[in-house]
Amino acid sequence: MTTDRLVRVRAFAKINLELRVVGVRPDGYHELRTIFQSIALHDTLSFIQTSGAFRIECDDPACPSDRANLIWRAAERVWRAAGRRGAVRGVSVRLVKRIPMQAGLGGGSSDAAATLRTLAALWGVRVTDGDLERIAADLGADVPYFLEGGTVLGLDRGDRLFPLVDIPEAWVVVVVPDFGVSTGEAFAWWDQETARRPRAATNDLERPVGRRHPIIARLIRALGRAGAARAGLSGSGSAVFGLFPRRADAGRAAARLAGPRRKVLLTRTLSRRACQRLAAK
Ligand code: C5P
Repeated sequence: MTTDRLVRVRAFAKINLELRVVGVRPDGYHELRTIFQSIALHDTLSFIQTSGAFRIECDDPACPSDRANLIWRAAERVWRAAGRRGAVRGVSVRLVKRIPMQAGLGGGSSDAAATLRTLAALWGVRVTDGDLERIAADLGADVPYFLEGGTVLGLDRGDRLFPLVDIPEAWVVVVVPDFGVSTGEAFAWWDQETARRPRAATNDLERPVGRRHPIIARLIRALGRAGAARAGLSGSGSAVFGLFPRRADAGRAAARLAGPRRKVLLTRTLSRRACQRLAAK
């Protein structure tokens, strides 16, 4: 009897507690000083052994299921690291997409990191953590972070990582407007800013992104008024978040922020250990 082997993993989202652009590199990428923080919001990936070509099936039709999906490119990289030739085959991935896309929550990058880790184990690929990190960095600046999780300082493109002590657990209200922001575009808007004076915001992309999408600045202010200990743009947006020490306050804020043309999610921060423990449960 053959049974399809099924491995199910969670790929958690992140927020950026802080994001400073400290320079522009010769390759056009921006040098960052950012603090990543895992949150409990997650996608679920099921890896099923098949006898056919590689496939991605996603429950969200807006999510690409071809090579445009980083899962696909992550699978190719592990396939080659395993010394195999030709197109990837023998596995299909079912993706339950819960992390909003183009929101600055790292969903695509987290899915890619989960794929790297899972397929390397499934296919018995002997790669060091360093090898995996290099492959991850090649797929995208945020991907290495998701191999780690928790509270992490990211330098360079955000891919030179220094794990920090976990922040005290907090409840997180995430507000996702009904439009996305492309990361490349957000950094290009930052390039066009003329005045580079220090801002009160904890995310240097808040101003250039907020200029194009004034609703973002309004939502951040509304989270502050609703009692957030800290509120800001996540990554390059479009999602904004507020941190609340107490669940009841977060719940009230989420209710106040509800409105048309946006989605409000209530979640919590995850420690590095919780992240690693829950990833494969
Ligand atoms: O690495 P990733 O593909 O996620 O980045 C998407 C785009 O965001 C890059 O092509 C680049 O334009 C911009 N970016 C940047 N500096 C970073 C990260 C991303 O300029 N540190």
